[in-house]
Parts: sequence; structure tokens; C-alpha cells
Amino acid sequence: MRVALLANLKKNAPTWEGMSPDHWDDLDSEKTVESIMAALRSRDHEVTFLEGNIELVDSLRKLKLKPDICFNICEGHFGDAREAQAPAILEMMRIPYTGSKVLTLALALDKPMTKRVLAYHELPTPPFQVFERIGEPLDPSLQFPLFVKPSREGTGMGVSAESVVHDETQLRTQIQRVFDRYEQPALVERFIEGREITMGLVGNLVGPAARRMPEDENAPRIFKGLHIFPALEVDMGKYPIEEAGIYTNRIKTELAEDFHYLCPAPLPETLVEDLRWYTAAVFRVIGCLDVARVDFRLDMHDNNKPYILEVNPLPGLNPGYSDLCIEAAAAGWTYEGLINRILDEAIGRYGLETR
Ligand SMILES: Nc1ncnc2c1ncn2[C@@H]1O[C@H](COP(=O)(O)OP(=O)(O)OP(=O)(O)O)[C@@H](O)[C@H]1O
Ligand SMILES: [Mg+2]
Repeated sequence: MRVALLANLKKNAPTWEGMSPDHWDDLDSEKTVESIMAALRSRDHEVTFLEGNIELVDSLRKLKLKPDICFNICEGHFGDAREAQAPAILEMMRIPYTGSKVLTLALALDKPMTKRVLAYHELPTPPFQVFERIGEPLDPSLQFPLFVKPSREGTGMGVSAESVVHDETQLRTQIQRVFDRYEQPALVERFIEGREITMGLVGNLVGPAARRMPEDENAPRIFKGLHIFPALEVDMGKYPIEEAGIYTNRIKTELAEDFHYLCPAPLPETLVEDLRWYTAAVFRVIGCLDVARVDFRLDMHDNNKPYILEVNPLPGLNPGYSDLCIEAAAAGWTYEGLINRILDEAIGRYGLETR
């Protein structure tokens, strides 16, 4: 098939004076783009790379032949629904693409909105409050320590040891930092002290669309159609003490090539089963397609109770260090197998294979 790989390369991103040095940390490297292209070509697809920027409509039109499908990993540049922009263009042009659609990408980029949907479905996510102004009083039900992060960033942007705050002064300093640096509301959550787990999956649910989770704990758990990879635990003990046990921006960028993890994570089988179930449930209620990764923390003060931190419908696909690629490898998958499975899931959804 003719596949256009759409991504936002870090090296093509706009720059301006005074921009924060981590501003484009969630964009992709040439290494990732080249690896995905090679993986798709290994299955005889004809692949073209296009930068997912303002020129995308023109560059798609300029192609001699319209692509059959786009492999989309665009994170976007500007706006509070930036990950949804390239897919919105593709829908206007009626070109199929891999992965989640506009609404899900916009929703998942907004952590507070995602948490509201999770809470509606009684899925466990840390209690929280969103601050849009510095002086807003703290909800008395939230007790220190708390965790402060930007509402709409990834790759640990704005996440450091200082994100854990122990009093009003630290809280206000961190909220102000989020406003100044990221120009968006600050998400303040209960600090979940404990192990750091991430769960990746590919596939698509067969059967019921999102509806409220059954109240009956013994109701059947819906997994059909999903392939959930082994749990990955970030081995926090191996990182410098300054990172304070947090999966920080520094660990995800500067230290990314020297990633310390355990996969499969050494967890009791019943806990893994619950994590698998929560992962499938998040995928379902957020409306993900083809691929996703769900991040958790286990509360060490409450018998390792899992808390959902966020869902990533565009998980990193760097073959060397991205969590999803490591998880797939732990399950015996090759990188080519992973990338082409994502493509094939989309091809199947659009019914393209029969043409
Ligand atoms: N409520 C919390 N309690 C404890 N630690 C937290 C909390 N929220 C976030 N963290 C820490 O910060 C890290 C990054 O948070 P989160 O996953 O929300 O951000 P992200 O930048 O979107 O991540 P990604 O790189 O996966 O896109 C978590 O992996 C965890 O280590
Ligand atoms: Mg995360």
C-alpha cells in the first residue's frame, strides 16, 4: 500500500527567542521516523514521510498518488488540541489514518478532562484540582504532599523532583511555574508514592462501545480484540537521588538512552490482571484505536493500589527506548511486527485490505 508517515520532527519545529528549552521534547527524532519507515518498507509498503505542519494539505495534494493510509504520529505544534490537528485535516481530505481519532486525541492531551471521564467510570485516578489562577484556594479535601504538573504536556515536561510539594508556599511556586513556562492550567493531584508502571497495548475492542462501567465487580471484564503487553516498571532505584523517584523530564530525555526498567514487572499475578483490566477499560472509555499506553502508580501506603495517571494514544515509538517498544519486545515481538500491527489494525478498521 501507499503509506504516508506523518510526524513532527524536532529538527523541523519552529523556534523563537526565549522559548523554553524543553518546548519540543515530545516531538520525534529522525531516528524514530527512519525506523518506522524501514519497518513499513520491510512489508513492501511504499512509504513517504511528510511533516505534519501547516503545509500538510498541500504536501498531501502534491503527492503523485494519494496515500491509501497515513501512519500518524503527529504531536502537533500549537494549541490545546494540537495532537488532533493532523487527523482533523485527514478527515477533511477523507484519507484514512492509524490510531485514535480527533476527539480522543484532544481529550487525552487534556489530563483533567481525561480524569473527569475516568472518574465518571469509577476508574481510579488520583483526586485532583485544576488551577487557572494563582490565588484559587486549595480544596480542603486535598492533603499534602501534592503533585503539580502542566495539564497538557507529555514527556515529563514540567515534571521534576520539585513537582512534589509539601506546603502552600511550594504549591504556589510550582503552580506559578506551570503558568509562566507552559501557559496553561496547572493540574494538582494527590501525590501517589510508590512504584511506576506503564502498560502498552495494540488492537481494537470487539463488542460494546464505551458505556458506564458495570457496578458489579464480578461482571465480565472486556478485553476481546486487545493485545496487552507485559507491564513495564521503571526501575526508579537506579536513577540519581535528585530525581526523587519521579519519572522526570530529565529521565525521559537526557537519560533516555540509559533506561532502567523491569519488563515484565515483578508483580503478583492478581495485580497484573487488575492493571490489564484497567488498561482495557481506559482504552474503551477514552475511545482509543489501534494502540495506546496507560501510565500508573501503585500506592505503597495502600497495598499497591493502582492509580491511573494518564493515557497516551500516541505513545513514543523510538525503537531503542520507548516504553511501548520495550514492552512489545518483552512479549517477543519485533519492532517491525509492532509497527505493522498498528498499521494493520487501521487497515482492518477501514476495510482497506479487501480493495
Ligand atoms: N499524582 C502523582 N503522584 C506521583 N507521581 C506522579 C503523579 N503524577 C505524575 N507523577 C510522576 O510524573 C511522571 C509524569 O507524569 P505524567 O505521566 O502525567 O506526565 P507526561 O509528561 O504526560 O508523561 P508521558 O511522558 O508519559 O507523556 C509520572 O510518570 C510520575 O513519575
Ligand atoms: Mg506519562
